[in-house]
Amino acid sequence: MKILVIGTGYVGTTTALVFAEMGWKVVGLDTDAHKVDQLTKGELYFYEPGLKELLVKHLKSGQIMFTTNQAKAIQENDVIFICVGTPSLNDGNADLTYVKQVSQDIGRYMNGYKLIVNKSTVPVGTQEKVTQWILRSQAASYPYDVASNPEFLREGKAMEDSLNPDRVVIGATSTKATKMLQTLYASVQCPIVVTTPRTAELIKYASNAFLATKISYINELSRLSDKLEVDIKEVAFGMGLDQRIGSSFLQAGIGYGGSCFPKDVAALLRIAKDNNTELQVLKNVVEVNETQYLYMVEKARRRLGDFAGKKIVVLGLAFKPDTDDIREAPAIRLIQELTVGQAHIKLFDPVAKLPSYLKNSNIQFMTTPEEGFKDADAVFICTEWKMYHDLNWSMLSKQMKQPNIFDGRNMLNADFMKSLGYYYQGVGYN
Ligand code: UDX
Repeated sequence: MKILVIGTGYVGTTTALVFAEMGWKVVGLDTDAHKVDQLTKGELYFYEPGLKELLVKHLKSGQIMFTTNQAKAIQENDVIFICVGTPSLNDGNADLTYVKQVSQDIGRYMNGYKLIVNKSTVPVGTQEKVTQWILRSQAASYPYDVASNPEFLREGKAMEDSLNPDRVVIGATSTKATKMLQTLYASVQCPIVVTTPRTAELIKYASNAFLATKISYINELSRLSDKLEVDIKEVAFGMGLDQRIGSSFLQAGIGYGGSCFPKDVAALLRIAKDNNTELQVLKNVVEVNETQYLYMVEKARRRLGDFAGKKIVVLGLAFKPDTDDIREAPAIRLIQELTVGQAHIKLFDPVAKLPSYLKNSNIQFMTTPEEGFKDADAVFICTEWKMYHDLNWSMLSKQMKQPNIFDGRNMLNADFMKSLGYYYQGVGYN
């Protein structure tokens, strides 16, 4: 089987490279010639640990190539993965414009049996829509199957998650399609859930929404733990040992961000509304997330008073470590809130770049984490990059005007920081 991956964005490029690593011949197709050029030269236009090495390796081995030639790519490959973007519309619905376009292109150019697999996160019922879009655009009546095979990879851990997933979900309507997908994933050691396309589509949303729920739950609890003077990290640890609860996604912080959780939670709420169902828990998950960064800002306001003219170091812009992705990053909203209060921000992130809409005279982007500490009134940690552990905090405290730390990711040791003379506040009491 030869694989075509349509859309060389983050999910598409990773999917293509992981299939190449599994030993399949893969073609990556994109309408953006610049992206295709860069990938063909072995250059990744986003940051993901280990992926560039895989790209260089498989360009060399000939397992992978990239192209803009739609007709040829569709005609020469058997299995076609749709990995295009499904951004949020204003009403929370996922925008299927790109999925529709790609489906119509497949219909137009196909020249024999094709298995079309949707990896993009799409509303329940999309498999049926794709089937129809292809049918209506076909030049001649060739057989095909459309399956759903959602992606569960995390940014920063994409390789690990794709090569060693917890499960593979296959939603297909024919035995032929199921068997082909099982063969593609034969080298992966994990349970394979074979189900209907609708179920597969809902599993994806339900999983992300559940993880977001865990985060908002512990975040809301952190507000109570502050009042009760109970360390939220210890609470999470004690809870997590119960295997029914599990320890992951119980780290209190300034909230979840990224390209998936906010978008997928909004989409699931929209799907529910369209089906006359209210998902009350999930509505509150969003509300807690949207106010969690403000909770930390208020802690700082109580300590610093008016922000006007205060120098504040912000460490971390990306929505989480090991990525340059700043989509829906809580750091952005936090910085905006501080600048509304006229604070002077000295921002550092080892990988993420300052977006143009944040460029103003009150925000300075630093080239090292230490650079902004001189005469600073406070430090905010927004992303738990490992390198922040290794800063010379003792020396830095002496450079600050007032050594205040607001650790939005609970990454530093509170007692140690206090022993160095810092006023330390994490999320939840510590
Ligand atoms: C997520 C899902 O994990 C993945 O399965 C899906 O395919 C895409 O969405 P990703 O967005 O890459 O992956 O990031 P993830 O590691 O899940 O973190 C999401 C956000 O939650 C980050 O902002 C992170 O900081 C936050 N988070 C995570 C917490 O605040 N606390 C936690 O305990 C875990």
